Amino acid sequence: MAVLVTGGAGYIGSHTCVEMLNAGYEVVVVDNLNNSSKESLNRVQKITGKKVKFYENDVRDKEALRKIFNENNIEATIHFAGLKAVGESVREPIMYYKNNIESTLTLIEVMTEFNVKKLVFSSSATVYGVAKEMPLKEGMPTGAINPYGRTKLFIEEILRDLYVSDNSWSIALLRYFNPIGAHKSGIIGEDPKGIPNNLMPYIAQVAVGKLEKLHVFGNDYNTVDGTGVRDYIHVVDLAKGHVKAVGYVLKNEGCEAINLGTGNGTSVLQLRDAFVKASGVEIPYVIDERRPGDPDEVYADADKAKELLGWEAELGVDEMCEDTWAWQSGNPQGYTE
Ligand code: NAD
Ligand code: WQD
Repeated sequence: MAVLVTGGAGYIGSHTCVEMLNAGYEVVVVDNLNNSSKESLNRVQKITGKKVKFYENDVRDKEALRKIFNENNIEATIHFAGLKAVGESVREPIMYYKNNIESTLTLIEVMTEFNVKKLVFSSSATVYGVAKEMPLKEGMPTGAINPYGRTKLFIEEILRDLYVSDNSWSIALLRYFNPIGAHKSGIIGEDPKGIPNNLMPYIAQVAVGKLEKLHVFGNDYNTVDGTGVRDYIHVVDLAKGHVKAVGYVLKNEGCEAINLGTGNGTSVLQLRDAFVKASGVEIPYVIDERRPGDPDEVYADADKAKELLGWEAELGVDEMCEDTWAWQSGNPQGYTE
């Protein structure tokens, strides 16, 4: 029996493949390499000493998916495949709706044909929109503030409707907070194309000299030091959460939204300081304008994951910085070297 991992060559996908293989699952990956490199999977195999079966296909290609389900005994799917850049989604909303929603619809159609009804979906804390209180709990109101977030919200609702129509499905909607860090080996990690949009890869590229200085987006927020606060979660903890979620959907029926976060908030300057400490490298910064749409604080109530999955984050911000630094300093050009 195998687990299909869509988008498995990507950042979170490759780390999840490692943890799934370590937990004894057989792993089949489908990825169109739109935002990733096949080299990540070679390295997953190097870390685990186990094989990953790889199909280079678009998840919207129904015939290709049918072939994958025909050739493998798939019992569950983890669905990472999707576009994820917020700013790009504002400029190219139709591309985001087409890619993220069509891929999910095609996947669930083919899963239904093959009677595989266990699904773990990559959702995001962005589905809480502009929340009135923290920490964020799964029962709180949702709302999207950009097309990317809207694709996640729509997909969550599509999957809930699917479950209502057929109670034999089991679906985990995992709402990730801010994944950062890398595998301890330092040979897999986040490899963004172009200038990073997110804070941690930006800091890491300043540290290796690819970027000149960090631009801190605003220091007049209502937070501990005026800079934005987020719930950073180590990608290896996140990957382990997926192993638990697969175990959960294999045993239970239902459709559950579950936060994957630590419950702790860290400010931009606190993360920058932790990175300086971990790397021994100075990170120069300037205070810039606020980035439109950024809230003061976002952090999770992580109790539901503990109750349902028996999962909680174990690694702190120091380890997140140490492991990012090991990956970035060892692979300054990412996977392209
Ligand atoms: P990533 O871009 O590294 O990985 C996504 C993978 O999906 C890539 O390898 C890409 O090539 C592939 N892909 C995209 N569209 C595809 C398609 N139509 N067919 C086949 N493959 C396709 O991103 P990531 O950070 O690993 O994120 C994984 C998932 O988690 C995404 O769905 C993302 O929206 C979600 N998520 C990410 C974050 C984050 O901050 N990284 C936070 C919350 C949710
Ligand atoms: C973190 C903090 C910025 C860059 C995004 C998506 C969200 C989810 C996770 C997918 C904020 C500040 C950032 C920089 C800065 N992804 N910052 N300088 O915005 O919390 O979440 O990734 O689902 O949907 O929106 O993450 O890393 O971009 O920002 O000062 O160069 O760092 O203002 O306070 P964000 P981020």
